[in-house]
Amino acid sequence: MSANGFLKPCSNVVKSFCRAYKASGIPELTQVRHNVKRGNYGTLDGKDVAFFESIVGRNHMLQEDLQGYNVDFLRAVRGNSQLVLKPNSSEQVSAILKYCNERKLAICPQGGNTGLVGGSVPVCDEIVLSLTHLDKILHIDEITGIASCEAGCILENLDLKARESGLVVPLDLGAKSSCHIGGNVSTNAGGLRVLRYGNLHGSVLGVEAILANGEILDLMSDFKKDNTGYHLKHLFIGSEGTLGVVTKVSILCAPQPQAQHVAFLGVPSFDDVLKNFRNARQFLGEILSSCELVDAGSLDCSVSHFKLNSPIEGYPFYMLIETSGSNAEHDMEKFNRFLENGIEKGQILDGTITGEVSKMREIWKLRELVSVALAEDGFCFKYDISLPLREFYHIVEVMKERVGHLANRVCGYGHLGDSNLHLNITCPEFTPEIYKCVEPFVYEFTSQLKGSISAEHGIGFLKRNYLKYSKSPAAIEKMREMKQLLDPNGILNPYKVLN
Ligand code: FAD
Ligand code: MLT
Ligand code: ZN
Repeated sequence: MSANGFLKPCSNVVKSFCRAYKASGIPELTQVRHNVKRGNYGTLDGKDVAFFESIVGRNHMLQEDLQGYNVDFLRAVRGNSQLVLKPNSSEQVSAILKYCNERKLAICPQGGNTGLVGGSVPVCDEIVLSLTHLDKILHIDEITGIASCEAGCILENLDLKARESGLVVPLDLGAKSSCHIGGNVSTNAGGLRVLRYGNLHGSVLGVEAILANGEILDLMSDFKKDNTGYHLKHLFIGSEGTLGVVTKVSILCAPQPQAQHVAFLGVPSFDDVLKNFRNARQFLGEILSSCELVDAGSLDCSVSHFKLNSPIEGYPFYMLIETSGSNAEHDMEKFNRFLENGIEKGQILDGTITGEVSKMREIWKLRELVSVALAEDGFCFKYDISLPLREFYHIVEVMKERVGHLANRVCGYGHLGDSNLHLNITCPEFTPEIYKCVEPFVYEFTSQLKGSISAEHGIGFLKRNYLKYSKSPAAIEKMREMKQLLDPNGILNPYKVLN
């Protein structure tokens, strides 16, 4: 497989979309829409700007044209920052934070700004700390598979470099051409192959993080096994920039698969989707690397928006199943047995299977571009929930009943293999009427099923009022105590995660 293999099928589309998207249309200020009272923080003045200039230099700070840093990918939130800083070393990040802590200036750490929960842009006038210039790949060890890089390294760039050594980064998502590895770690991003590689709590071996007071905490490690006391690195995996700024990451890469196959299948009912998943686990075993669900509304959105050709159409559900193994012939035999069984039982009505890189890429586009197409379909209410598999799709049907008449589209897709559903509701524009109809209903529904109200995107700003649906009061109190310990002045990404 070429270094530009199919694992990065539609990256350029997403990248150009990110650019175009930022330039068009702006949402209402978050502070206004959500009635947020500014925290008791210092206000940026000329002396502060002069200090920051002495640290990063004039060319690494912006005071104009900040829209791309103030508005998120979904155009759901908009901050009012007046300053973006782009440090290029851990020491510069440390000096900035030390100063901000003393002056009580609030900071919003920002990676590729592809986050989907309003965590990556300021809520009020926080200074944006962009990690974009901390983008060096430090080391890739082809024997151990360990890669280390600075936090602003773009995921796709690290993956391309890893492939030169026969490795793959164990994380892949539609935003790979824009998101940073530091952003991935800070959100504990999931993506398309958690089923195969697990999440980042397993594959991240170490981080370097800068604390609110400027202290550089070196937790970098080249070992899987290190039981020397508390595993502090985990505090920074998924804490969304509220406990520290991640500046370096060490991650265990996987060997590049020698053979890959992708099938795209038409399925008659959700019950059959579940049967196919069970069979995929049974028949494909350790070579199963992805099992994704796309419903008819989601497929229609990506196909019509990007004028794609779907190899099959007219079914209520589609499954994208991928295998990654070491022997194409053996893998294909297993895949065929799985397909024959499903077809015989009427659980698979039609489909296509391929091992050709270009064709696999086309199939992945159908799935990966759903989220980009939905963002163009109108204002997008996006929910990312974990649910017991038997109940997985019910919420989509319930929401169709509840808000279908107000919406452009109500659809569901996602990482079936991880019990992670993406429920999306698009409508002509944001209105408080639809908002109240959807929230907190979706979260109450999820909580009743003991699901998670945020499976992979995090809490950010948009879900902070709903944390209680997935965490007990005691757990939230412990989170507050940790925040107080590490960031007593609350300067790091305020208004996010905890309210
Ligand atoms: P940003 O969006 O810039 O920031 C996200 C959060 O992390 C913010 O709270 C920010 O303050 C914090 N942060 C960023 N960098 C740092 C740092 N160095 N130190 C401390 N805090 C930091 N997510 C998934 O989990 N799975 C998917 O499959 C997936 N697919 C996506 C597909 C598309 C098309 C898009 C647009 C998004 C998708 N996402 C997905 C969401 C998003 O890409 C991930 O959350 C990603 O990890 C964010 O990385 P980023 O660099 O863009 O971070
Ligand atoms: C995905 O799986 O496509 C992403 O998490 C983005 C989304 O939820 O839309
Ligand atoms: Zn996802």
